[in-house]
Amino acid sequence: MSAIGNATRPLRVAIVGSGPAGFYAAGHLLAPKGRPDLVVEVDVFERLPTPWGLVRGGVAPDHPNIKAVSRVFDKTAARPGFRFFGNVELGRDISHEDLLSRYHAVIYAVGAETDKRIGIPGEDLAGSTTATEFVAWYNGHPDYRHREFDLSCRRAVVVGNGNVAMDVARMLAITPAELERTDVADHALEVLRSAAIEEIVVLGRRGPAQAAFTNPELLELGEMADADVLVDPRDVALDAHSARSIESEGDLTARRNVEILAGYSERRPTGKRKRIILRFLVSPVAIIGNGRVEAVQLAHNEIAADTDGILRAVRTERRETLKAGIVLRSIGYRGVALPGVPFDERRGTIPNQAGRVTDPQAREPLRGVYAVGWIKRGPSGVIGTNKKDAHETVDNLLADLDRGALLEPADPTSEALDALLAERRPDYVSYAGWQAIERAERAAGEPHDRPHVKLCTFEELLAAAFDSAAS
Ligand SMILES: Cc1cc2nc3c(=O)[nH]c(=O)nc-3n(C[C@H](O)[C@H](O)[C@H](O)COP(=O)(O)OP(=O)(O)OC[C@H]3O[C@@H](n4cnc5c(N)ncnc54)[C@H](O)[C@@H]3O)c2cc1C
Ligand SMILES: NC(=O)c1ccc[n+]([C@@H]2O[C@H](COP(=O)([O-])OP(=O)(O)OC[C@H]3O[C@@H](n4cnc5c(N)ncnc54)[C@H](OP(=O)(O)O)[C@@H]3O)[C@@H](O)[C@H]2O)c1
Repeated sequence: MSAIGNATRPLRVAIVGSGPAGFYAAGHLLAPKGRPDLVVEVDVFERLPTPWGLVRGGVAPDHPNIKAVSRVFDKTAARPGFRFFGNVELGRDISHEDLLSRYHAVIYAVGAETDKRIGIPGEDLAGSTTATEFVAWYNGHPDYRHREFDLSCRRAVVVGNGNVAMDVARMLAITPAELERTDVADHALEVLRSAAIEEIVVLGRRGPAQAAFTNPELLELGEMADADVLVDPRDVALDAHSARSIESEGDLTARRNVEILAGYSERRPTGKRKRIILRFLVSPVAIIGNGRVEAVQLAHNEIAADTDGILRAVRTERRETLKAGIVLRSIGYRGVALPGVPFDERRGTIPNQAGRVTDPQAREPLRGVYAVGWIKRGPSGVIGTNKKDAHETVDNLLADLDRGALLEPADPTSEALDALLAERRPDYVSYAGWQAIERAERAAGEPHDRPHVKLCTFEELLAAAFDSAAS
């Protein structure tokens, strides 16, 4: 048994990133099952003044119930041994080496901050943008506060068939009255309220049986207050490969998606002000426009089975031009490399074996370095997926503790970290500072019957954090 992990020498772990993965890892470390005597201290570093990652900056404003998971994170934050350091960025304020020399272990939980590219001409035209940016903007992420989205056109195209594409389509179709009750960022509320968009076309490169969205999210589209959802019946007629896969593989989500879509294909417009049109087997091959988006050129696809049985989209010769004023590319997020930390460029993740970060050359685990969440496994999975994922990583970290295979820093005390931050980031935001931000946001929302009015710049957030810290 290691001599670390008792009251005199607590196990000290740094977690970088405070989204669901970081918080689930902290929760598991601070209450490890079957190890009541283990004394652990966890310092969580977060580049924003606010915690919770995509629970604050990703989950759609009209899904407030999902955000209730934050109560679990609050409980973790209240445990002895937990400290939060918001407004502290790895790579800007602290380095990988700073952490290696002050902690027994470091866990990276930095998520996937950027997006994949389609790789087609016109992708960077004005009016062609990513879901990553749009979502962060309407959710009040301070990095995106000053982005501008011109929604004065009639038709928007959303590329991709995942749940993020569903969120984006809904946010473009939602009524101002519904939106006004949410915590959507005020700057976005203003723009969305006066948007001229009447038609949202969602493009799936494969068929309805391969769509990545889940049943509740698809059903929600069919219940919009002022938007009809429309599907061409020809688009839901399954090809032989898809029909077989739905029958044989027992993928209940896919089967139910196909049923829901078949139901939508029987609907006719009911005169609602907006339309969401779900299209399948089409890929954008170019975004066209003179200085800004005017149309999207589409290739029609067919489904073909790979030798490994995976059903892929294969392009046909058939092309089509679809007029549009804005294109929102929602084809998946992508991790960003951190200075000094191994990175797999192809997958956009930190290379690891069940959470133990590996040296890219030797492919051996690096002592004391771990990964959790989207930066560990790639940008897929719901909030709860990160719990199991974090437990796997933390269990391996504790197994490494038991075999004496963690780091052996010269001064792993909390004071050593305090001294570093006093020098590098004295204006860090503690959890109490974050709670002050939350109180200010809630108070601003109350008179308007809104859950919060979000503060959306670093200046406003820091002012709120320090205001009440002083009171
Ligand atoms: C638009 C969108 C909507 C979603 N909606 C839902 C939903 O409704 N329901 C559901 O179950 N799941 C939803 N998900 C999925 C869910 O949000 C993810 O599974 C989850 O957030 C991934 O957790 P994570 O901790 O790995 O990453 P993140 O949540 O992204 O957290 C990473 C954190 O690390 C911080 N960070 C990054 N770099 C640094 C650095 N250098 N230094 C310090 N900190 C850093 C970031 O600021 C962030 O706070 C959604 C995802 C997206 C993209
Ligand atoms: N309400 C919720 O629970 C909720 C909300 C939002 C997000 N999430 C979760 O967050 C995770 C990420 O969601 P996501 O929507 O970003 O990713 P996703 O589920 O991986 O979906 C990405 C979509 O983009 C398509 N795509 C990829 N490359 C493409 C290309 N070059 N051209 C055209 N289409 C392309 C994919 O099609 P192929 O399948 O053909 O590759 C897929 O339809 C998911 O696990 C999701 O469930 C959950």
